Amino acid sequence: MKPMLHLLPVEAYTSQAWYGREMRDIFSKTWRYAGFMEDVSEPGQYITVQAGLNNIFVVMGRDRRLRAFHNICRHRGTQLIRAVGKTQKALTCPYHDWTYNLEGNLVSVPEEQEEFGQVDKSCLGLKPAKVDIWKSMIFVHPDSDAPSIAEWFGPTEPHIGPHVPEELVEYEELNTSYEIKANWKVVVENYIDVYHLSHLHSNTLQMYDHKAAKYHWEGPHYMFWEPPVEAFLKDQESKLIAPRVIPKDMNGAWVSYSPKIGH
Ligand code: FES
Repeated sequence: MKPMLHLLPVEAYTSQAWYGREMRDIFSKTWRYAGFMEDVSEPGQYITVQAGLNNIFVVMGRDRRLRAFHNICRHRGTQLIRAVGKTQKALTCPYHDWTYNLEGNLVSVPEEQEEFGQVDKSCLGLKPAKVDIWKSMIFVHPDSDAPSIAEWFGPTEPHIGPHVPEELVEYEELNTSYEIKANWKVVVENYIDVYHLSHLHSNTLQMYDHKAAKYHWEGPHYMFWEPPVEAFLKDQESKLIAPRVIPKDMNGAWVSYSPKIGH
C-alpha cells in the first residue's frame, strides 16, 4: 500500500513571509501558556508573555483578581512593562509617565491641561486580553472575548490519564531555555514522531512498549499514550512500598501536545 504523505512546501520551513502569516493567523489567535498561579499570587505582581504578535501581561489587582492586558501604552504605544515583577499600585509608562492602575484604568496624565486640554481618561484604559486558569496554569488569549480555556482544553481531559497537574508543587524555578535554530514545525514534528522512539531512544525509553502506542488528534490537540513493558511494570511494582492506585490500563506515558500554543 502506498504510504500516506503530507508534504508541506519547502517555504513552510524557510520563508519569513510564511512564518509571518503563522504568527498572525495561528499564534495571535489562540491561547498561550503564561505561567503557574504561584507566579502571580499577590496584588501588583505581574508576568508578561509574547502571544504571537501580541505582548500581553497578567497582573493581580488589589481585589486579587487576575487581569490580562495588551502591554501597550494608549498614548504612543510604548511597551509598558518588561518580563516579570511587582509594582505597588500602578503601572507607569516609561516614555511620558502616563499611569494606569492595576485594573487597567488610566489614572494620571502629566501636564494634562497644558498638553492636551482635557483627556477623557475613561476611554483610554489599557486594552484587555483574556486570562484563564486551567489546572493551576495561567493562559492568556489576545482576544478578550475568546471562549474559555476549559472549552479549548475540554476535549483533552479524558486523555491526561492519572495526572493531576493542579496538585503539583513547583519547588524550583528552572530558567533553562534552549534556542533551536530551526523552524518551529521541525520541533513539533519531532514531538509527534512515534517512529523514532524505538530507534533514537532505544536506550532511554526501552521501558515502554512503543508498538502498543496509541495516538490521535482531538481537534487541534495531539494525544499520545503508550504502556510500559510488562517486565518494567513488575520491577516497579516490586519496589513500591504502597500498592499503586493507578489502574493498569492507565499506566504508561501520557503526552498531550497543542502545537497551536507551543509547549
Ligand atoms: S507612550 Fe506612554 S506615556 Fe507616552
